[in-house]
Amino acid sequence: MEKLKIAGGYPLEGTIKVSGAKNSAVALIPATILADSPVTIEGLPDISDVRTLQDLLEEIGGTVQLEDGDMTVDPSQMVSMPLPSGKVKKLRASYYLMGAMLGRFKKAAIGLPGGCHLGPRPIDQHIKGFEALGAEVTNEQGAIYLRADELKGARIYLDVVSVGATINIMLAAVRAKGRTIIENAAKEPEIIDVATLLSNMGARIKGAGTDVIRIDGVDELHGCRHTIIPDRIEAGTFMILAAAVGKGVLVDNVIPLHMESVIAKLREMGVPVETNDDQIFIGGADKLKAVDIKTLVYPGFPTDLQQPFTALLNRAEGSAVVTDTIYSARFKHIDELRRMNATIKVEGRSAIVNGPVQLQGAKVKASDLRAGAALVIAGLMAEGVTEVTGLEHIDRGYSDLVKKLEGLGATIWREKMTAEELEQLKS
Ligand code: EPU
Repeated sequence: MEKLKIAGGYPLEGTIKVSGAKNSAVALIPATILADSPVTIEGLPDISDVRTLQDLLEEIGGTVQLEDGDMTVDPSQMVSMPLPSGKVKKLRASYYLMGAMLGRFKKAAIGLPGGCHLGPRPIDQHIKGFEALGAEVTNEQGAIYLRADELKGARIYLDVVSVGATINIMLAAVRAKGRTIIENAAKEPEIIDVATLLSNMGARIKGAGTDVIRIDGVDELHGCRHTIIPDRIEAGTFMILAAAVGKGVLVDNVIPLHMESVIAKLREMGVPVETNDDQIFIGGADKLKAVDIKTLVYPGFPTDLQQPFTALLNRAEGSAVVTDTIYSARFKHIDELRRMNATIKVEGRSAIVNGPVQLQGAKVKASDLRAGAALVIAGLMAEGVTEVTGLEHIDRGYSDLVKKLEGLGATIWREKMTAEELEQLKS
């Protein structure tokens, strides 16, 4: 097991390239199950979630080749094997195997998904959708069993705007009989990306990216090539760290339209931001003003950037209120930031950050993926050396992070943990 070490306090400069979107990748890969011939997805990020999904597709009989971020899946020999636990637990997005396997085989048995612990993360809306399409869904000993004689299109109103439920229902409905209408659908760019792949496979989907999606079921889907969209959360992480410690950073391979809420907040703080077709330049700023953040569904400020932004706010003058309306308990990074000298208190769904403070290097632990990103940013801002453990979370979602940050001039490296440190981690 490794830890990350960061010698902070140095300004960063240069160009940093964004990889393909993790939250698209984890849906696009299961979506290949629905085809009857090989599907190629280009530009996947080099992250552990992608490798775990590759293993899961191989477990059910898929042939998968992955080279330089391009994955070709031959789903023709796949069978509906139960996937009770093990690897399924490594990532939350394994729930997409339910929709895809139900759509193709009309049955599936999948262990309850794992992923980051951000407070309660129910999947009732996914199940409501599967049931509306005609599936019988039972929960037996920690696994979800789905069975249907036939899937029939239905009108489904989501009680909660959910990215996962919207995509999962699309996956189950593309090969159902007749028309499915998803109302109050989520509008995140990753949903459009999955709908684009499915359409290239022969699916008939209209309205992805709006809150009403119409799907006309087809009997079969075929192989195709698809290029994944850039990761807007990785892009946002880089923009935030550039605002925190940059003296001119160009974030490359980004869709600026996806970043509007983040750009607006950075500008409100006094950060110079310029955009062109597929790049965003973040200029350095000596003084930053505190701004309040409230996370909302897309196109609002993303919950996944709330934690990294909280790290940046330590540099800003004044008091900022950060409210997460999506996940009530996404504040595990706060205690760690406090160890680094931050003055932050949590009240209900909000964290109140008082700045500016000079963060100090410390030993901290990433409890989830974006908490990890927040601690890396804080480490780059801090005086002295910061040690971050819990790298398995960061590795789930950030591809080549050390190399990318070294490219900007950061002093950051991975080190093997000692036996004593591993022992401490357990206790
Ligand atoms: N919710 C329900 N019932 C459901 C589904 C969701 O009550 O059946 C609630 C959730 O508890 C949450 C809200 O609805 O309060 C939104 O959840 P959503 O379903 O949209 O989240 P998700 O699909 O499970 C994805 C991303 C998350 C990101 C959220 C919100 C993936 C694999 N994960 O999760 O990404 O935070 O959307 O945008 O796409 C991350 O990348 O670090 C991450 C956690």
